[in-house]
Amino acid sequence: IQNLSYTVKKTLPFLSKLKYLDKYYSPDVDDGEILQFKNQDDVSMTEKLKEMQRFFGLQETGKADAETLAVMKKPRCGVPDLQPFILTEGNLKWPRNNITYRIVNYTPDLQKSEVDQAIQKAFSVWSKASTLTFKRLSSGVADIMISFKRGDHGDNSPFYGPNEILAHAFPPGDRDGGDIHFDEDELWTMKGRNLFLVAAHEIGHSLGLAHSNDQGALMYPTYSYIEPHLFQLPQDDINGIQTIYGKTDTPAKGPQTPNACDPHLSFDAVATLRGETIFFKGRYFWRKHPEFSVEFYFISHFWPQLSSGIQAAYENFYKDQMYFFKGNKYWVLNDFNLLPGYPQPIYRLGFPKYVKKIDAAFSDLQSGKTYFFVGDKFWRYDEIKQSMDIGYPQKIAQHFKGIGPKIDAAIYENGYIYFFKGAKVVQFDLNSSRVVPPTRRSNSFLNC
Ligand SMILES: *[C@@H]1O[C@H](CO)[C@@H](O)[C@H](O)[C@H]1NC(C)=O
Ligand SMILES: *[C@@H]1O[C@H](CO)[C@@H](O)[C@H](O)[C@H]1NC(C)=O
Ligand SMILES: [Zn+2]
Ligand SMILES: [Zn+2]
Repeated sequence: IQNLSYTVKKTLPFLSKLKYLDKYYSPDVDDGEILQFKNQDDVSMTEKLKEMQRFFGLQETGKADAETLAVMKKPRCGVPDLQPFILTEGNLKWPRNNITYRIVNYTPDLQKSEVDQAIQKAFSVWSKASTLTFKRLSSGVADIMISFKRGDHGDNSPFYGPNEILAHAFPPGDRDGGDIHFDEDELWTMKGRNLFLVAAHEIGHSLGLAHSNDQGALMYPTYSYIEPHLFQLPQDDINGIQTIYGKTDTPAKGPQTPNACDPHLSFDAVATLRGETIFFKGRYFWRKHPEFSVEFYFISHFWPQLSSGIQAAYENFYKDQMYFFKGNKYWVLNDFNLLPGYPQPIYRLGFPKYVKKIDAAFSDLQSGKTYFFVGDKFWRYDEIKQSMDIGYPQKIAQHFKGIGPKIDAAIYENGYIYFFKGAKVVQFDLNSSRVVPPTRRSNSFLNC
């Protein structure tokens, strides 16, 4: 659900948890701006913490636990996370569809042409998903005035230096309305701290969108790096902009963020990694540690080279490495870093040329054998000899009774193999070659 945005009119030092909650979870209402939100009265710190934890999908403990503090330390947008909002007629929305913008000053971090292109590309993200058009002015007053500013810059919403607030924007309106400020103390780049991605987010606010708690949404408050050339506006943001300005003639479609607790959820690949379990789905993965709650990330946040659509993965216990498979290529991960020299073709592992992709893989710690599943067959690889075992492929149905063909993912955990197939997971005892009932839902692994 998309909401309207609002910018704090209050000067606050950053990073203490109290201040964080004050800034993002209890803004003042002043200047006669119309804003309606749930807790207008003073709410206790515990309540604010719970509200923040709810927003970020954390456990609602009401305490500043390690996970909550970790989220508070992430680089983010300076606009608060208010919800729920009520869309009021005539407020916080541009009354026309033809909107102007002007780049008032430039950062020395990038070439002018790079800034121009990044900003133009950021506007096109929204013009493609809506009936809005954007025209750049080179002088005079535009609806959306874009500038780079540092520290306290006169709008009662100071920046606090690098890695904290990256930028902020005002909701539609006169004077400051729609304006975007980027923190000049950030090092703006075309890669890491990507100007295009931050601009696209801030323009969302300039058009009237608030923060979304959909972790895959562009309007999520914390910053995530995605390869700009692979960027697609997520469905949540499309729904938001179309709620405010109406639908486009040709329906715009964007990637949907998977919901861990969707009963139909399936995985592309699952692998263990140093005691954690990693579940891949589209552009995302969940990371489950036995003691912490489940975390959700963009794949590109950790491994920009991989981006999406991992088809199989497994942990090589001997080398403390993880292998990723996509099409007929594979990558190797060591200590959370991808090794140079990859991807390599899977044929180097001994697959025949007719194998175009791997469905699933797991490695058996006891025997040092890795099993690769392709359609209704499987191959076995010896991690010690580093070669494919003779006599493969074999039929899955013959060796793994009760495990049908076409597996999505597999892991070896606590002495058992778990085969993921659609929304179901089957536990298999390798010693007795038998399925161990009952069949569970795949997302029971994500504490759903
Ligand atoms: C936007 O369109 C309206 C109606 O066509 C027109 O009157 C107005 O001048 C346009 N404004 C800009 C900034 O282009
Ligand atoms: C399978 O056999 C090995 C070796 O005997 C044993 O350590 C392991 O616990 C057994 N696994 C299960 C699931 O019973
Ligand atoms: Zn924001
Ligand atoms: Zn500002």
